[in-house]
Amino acid sequence: MSDFIDPDIVKKIENLRQELHRHNNRYYVMDAPEISDAEYDRMMRLLIELETQYPELSSSDSPSMRIGAFPLKKFDTVKHTVKMLSLDNAFSDSEILAFDRRVKKELMTDREILYTAEPKMDGVAVELVYEDGKLVIGSTRGDGETGEVITSNVKTIRTVPILIQHHGNEEKTPARLEVRGEVVISREGFKRLNDEMSNNGLQLFANPRNAAAGSLRQLDPRITAKRPLEIFIYGIGDVSGMNIDSHWDLLCRLKSFGFRINPHITQKITIAGVIKYFRELEEKRYGLPYDIDGMVIKVDSIESQVQLGTTARSPRWAIACKFKAIQETTRVLKIEVQVGRTGTLTPVAHLETVNIGGVNVNRATLHNVDEIRRKDIRIGDTVLVQRAGDVIPEIVKAIDTVRTGREKIFTMPAFCPFCNTPVEQDEGEAAIRCINDTCPAKVKAQIEHFASKRAFNIDGLGEKLINQLVDRGYLSSFADIFCLDKEKIESLENMGVKSAENLSESIEKSKKISFSRFLYALGIRHVGEHIAEILASKYGCLENLYDAKYDDLKDVNGIGPVLTQSISEFFMNKENRKRVDQILRCGVNIYPEEAILKPTLDGKVFVLTGTLETMTRSEAVQKIRILGGRISESVSKKTDLVVAGQSPGSKIERARALGVHIIDEEGFKKITGA
Ligand code: IVH
Repeated sequence: MSDFIDPDIVKKIENLRQELHRHNNRYYVMDAPEISDAEYDRMMRLLIELETQYPELSSSDSPSMRIGAFPLKKFDTVKHTVKMLSLDNAFSDSEILAFDRRVKKELMTDREILYTAEPKMDGVAVELVYEDGKLVIGSTRGDGETGEVITSNVKTIRTVPILIQHHGNEEKTPARLEVRGEVVISREGFKRLNDEMSNNGLQLFANPRNAAAGSLRQLDPRITAKRPLEIFIYGIGDVSGMNIDSHWDLLCRLKSFGFRINPHITQKITIAGVIKYFRELEEKRYGLPYDIDGMVIKVDSIESQVQLGTTARSPRWAIACKFKAIQETTRVLKIEVQVGRTGTLTPVAHLETVNIGGVNVNRATLHNVDEIRRKDIRIGDTVLVQRAGDVIPEIVKAIDTVRTGREKIFTMPAFCPFCNTPVEQDEGEAAIRCINDTCPAKVKAQIEHFASKRAFNIDGLGEKLINQLVDRGYLSSFADIFCLDKEKIESLENMGVKSAENLSESIEKSKKISFSRFLYALGIRHVGEHIAEILASKYGCLENLYDAKYDDLKDVNGIGPVLTQSISEFFMNKENRKRVDQILRCGVNIYPEEAILKPTLDGKVFVLTGTLETMTRSEAVQKIRILGGRISESVSKKTDLVVAGQSPGSKIERARALGVHIIDEEGFKKITGA
């Protein structure tokens, strides 16, 4: 490699970055894409290839940051320039009217005040700091004064601009712009995420807000990148180089800079209009794709806002009006136990159907037996059920004052309700599991996972069909899927000739599969998509994984001892190996991992010298190996890259003398972090 970089390459990278930022904004913020997803992916792949080839051109504001930078050891903290306040609450019309009276009194006016009214999104508050149009810090609210730095994580959120965009706006980019907003996960995204957590035998998130908070606080931004996070901007902190008259004006300007603003915000309404808006918002609430827990009203004029000022806790120019949690009482008819893919037994309450906020509710998950005990919920109990923001109804409490004495205490069965095998509880784990590998409930759930979108992606092979196929004895293993003939499929309920044909086609099509999807489909405990990808890129093929010395897995970022044990146990188990072989014998063809959005360091020879600040030497070595690179102890002509940390030794001189390319820690993180 030489130090001279063709200016055409520099230009090409610059153009790609600019275009990708623009298309990202058109797709995710403006909802008006100009190019197909495939074209966007192609451009992103090309950019990553070029950035890998020319690490010296790497940049922290590249769109490639969307796929997640290198993992951190811990979060830094940052002091907010302007304190992030919270809001006072109003719980009734009269409290809203009292707020309006206070505002008028402070402003010494009898005239109507104009307000902006906004949905109060139920997510996590963050601040994004832009310097000369570049996102330099993303942080959490923390205690209001100091937050945690989560810049790499927020960059993965598609609706967060990494570079400020200009739409129909000739205005100069403010030298410093701090914006504030709410990071949320839609209900749909939440459901998908929890399905995945459950498939991987992991603890579920209680609601979309917790899921958003947990996803933002990942030390590995590549995990955050896979979470369906979105952002809505609603305000600012410190700003220089921008004059604004009103809150509405501010929102319009922020929108023209490429920030996503909630489309349900209404401007310039009087207090009577605010109350009307509150009612309308309450009606719309469950029709929105994300949770909101009320309305925020803000005095629109910035001059008036300044005049009103703030208290230590909250501004005097804004107030939050919370919705009432929607709760109803009903009765627990029975508590049933479901058995999932990993064999975990989950109790589910069957309720007398009750309408809560326009939706009929007849089930509520009880998570686990500890939760039932903690809330002391008994079969036959009258219970308070709520849908406060969440889609999944929750039992708040049992109303013990109306107990008749005939209620029954629930105990977890000692035998699996589907196969009668004694259940077991792993030491230190709350979950109770059925350990019978041929349990029909487990087999059904495993096959459902195997055929699911992110695994074999067999279109048409869903829960209902799998239930029928297993019950009729046509399916008892993964491999059986590939031996299903059309006649058998046609003989099932609601299956015509055409749908049987379609299903056969999808099964045939699914036989070509990437290594990581294949691994994910096997349903190895704790192996989700992310871990499957790490394994696929580390081992490349099944044979290597069979022969693997799992000890070195422990050092791979993101893989702890529990996972290592689970993976090695899975592949040491003869039955599992037999199952995998059977699948392969059915003509399933695993192709090597595509380098989708993932640079490879195939065969590149690295020499490390000096101390790295953010990782140990063995972490760096591991990183290089995972991506297919090699390590050498000494610099020679065959060396491709020397990574220089603090106080590098004589290797640097030798590299210079031989004209070997040298990169620093930042450059190294860039080429290995994606
Ligand atoms: S304005 C100084 N607007 O509610 C006022 N906040 O208790 C700052 N929130 O921490 C907040 N939607 O996370 C504002 N449209 C909205 C909001 C909103 C949700 C959250 C925000 C804040 C909390 C206030």
